[in-house]
Formats: sequence, structure tokens, C-alpha cells
Amino acid sequence: MARKVTKAVFPVAGLGTRFLPATKSIPKEIMTLVDRPLIQYAIDEARAAGIKEFIFVTSRGKGALEDYFDTAPELETALRKKGKDTLLEELKSTNMDSGAIAYVRQNKPLGLGHAVWCARRLIAPNEPFAVILPDDVIAAEKPCLQQMVEAYEETGGCMVASMEVPPEQASLYGVLDIRDDMGAMVSVNGMVEKPAAGTEPSNLAVIGRYILTPKVLQSLNKLKSGSGGEIQLTDAIAHEIEEERPVYGYRFRGQRFDCGSKAGFLQATVAFGMAREDLQDEFGDYLRSMTATQLAAQ
Ligand code: G1P
Repeated sequence: MARKVTKAVFPVAGLGTRFLPATKSIPKEIMTLVDRPLIQYAIDEARAAGIKEFIFVTSRGKGALEDYFDTAPELETALRKKGKDTLLEELKSTNMDSGAIAYVRQNKPLGLGHAVWCARRLIAPNEPFAVILPDDVIAAEKPCLQQMVEAYEETGGCMVASMEVPPEQASLYGVLDIRDDMGAMVSVNGMVEKPAAGTEPSNLAVIGRYILTPKVLQSLNKLKSGSGGEIQLTDAIAHEIEEERPVYGYRFRGQRFDCGSKAGFLQATVAFGMAREDLQDEFGDYLRSMTATQLAAQ
């Protein structure tokens, strides 16, 4: 059986330029979906999958992210005094144990592969690890990484979350060249980062959840820049296939939102808002009335 996955890397060094001016002073990962920062969704998903150690690859200007995971004694005291127990529990659930989080810096934006490589000294030579891209938020009954960890325990190797996308959008993603399609899982012949339109090997795209062997970090040691002039994680995983080590795509059950784009962020806000019992009546009424007004105007 494959070794347990207990560490996850969160690449959070990006500038977040698509969300300027908001990201002028707050990290993109702190932007809120309803009332939780994006990064909290990623952490909750990791915890549900059995992750115990969290490695953040950060950059300048991400201080708010570090503070977010610290205890907030003044807030806790204030809530306790006011008897706001539910809120207090909610707040405490965001605290991280001492030593459970590590921060490493990526001092140049050289790409996703480079960001993951920055965590190399925190991962043992035979230790599999997860990578979560917090921009990809996945709503699922069983959290996506948990689904993958369960599948990985049977297969070992490297595993990437995957999802069918319309062919004209395939060039926005890492794309899988499928060897054997087993339904929920595919074995992979190759992977291409952002293939030019018309050259994509399939329309099965990589989504931001990975379970990787440390061999990928060794490949990253030697990797030159690829698509977009960046050091690509996709290329390092593709190297595993060249070395005849198995790589699988996992078709997760759930809905993925691209919170790296404004439209995706808004869609996620609506979906997560409607999923909340305390909001769905009022918010649902508003959405219905808005749709009705729009229909009437047409
Ligand atoms: C990254 C990966 C890409 C993957 C995508 C999923 O690209 O490089 O392979 O398909 O995340 O969101 P980015 O969107 O950061 O350009």
C-alpha cells in the first residue's frame, strides 16, 4: 500500500493582478467567498484528506496570510465575554497548531513548478505530498483531495485531479494524453501544459489538486522553463511518465470554480451563498427576483 500523504504544499506567491486594486494590500487568498477566505476552503479540504503539515510558498506582501492562521486572543476574549459561542468555535477552528504550518519564500515568480520546488527541503526523499492550488475551489460532498487520497492508496504513483473541459478551453490548462480510460481514473501517456489550440491530446484538463512523489522535486531540480517561459509542474510530472513511473488522472466528483477569474469568483460566491442555510432564503429570493426582472425586460 502507498505511503500516507500527510503534507500539502500551497503555492500562494502569485501577485493576484487579476484582482487589482483589491490585491494591492490584501493577498488574493484572503479574499472571501461568503465569509471565509479562499485559503480556508483549501485548508479544510486538506484536513479532511488527512493532511497534518501545511507548507505555504509565499512572497512579499503575504503577511496577512500568516496572521490569519494565528490565534486571535483579543477576538476570542471579546466573543467569550459576549457569549457568542458559535462564532468563537468558528474562529478557533481556523487556528493552526504550533509547528503545523511552514512558510517558504519564492523570491522570483518563475512558475508553478518553481514554487513547488521551493518546498523541496521540507519533504523527505521518500515522502509523497499533495499540492493544492487555492484558486481552484471545489464544492463536493466528499472533498476532492480526500477522494484522490483514497484512490491513491490503491495505485501509488502520481495523481492529478482532472475534468473534461470544452475543447476550445483546453489551451488554458495542463492537458492529459490518455493511455487507458478506466472511468473515474485514467492512466496517462503524457501531459502538455497549455497546448496550442488544435494540438491538445484530449479535453481532459488538470485541475489544481495533485498527489506527487518526491521524484517530481528531483526533476524540478533540472527543469528548464517551458510554456509561457515558466518552470512548469506539468513538465516535471510528464517526466515521470518518460521514466516509466505511473501517472494517473482522477475525475473527481464535484463542481470546480475558477476563483482565479472574476467571473469564476462570482459564480462561486453565488453557489456557496446558496448552499448556506442561513442565507439561502434571503439570497435565493433576491436571485429569483433579479432573474424575473431580467426576463421581463427582454
Ligand atoms: C495551473 C497549471 C495547469 C492547470 C491549472 C488548473 O495553471 O499549470 O496545468 O491546468 O493550474 O487551474 P494556471 O491556471 O496557474 O495558469
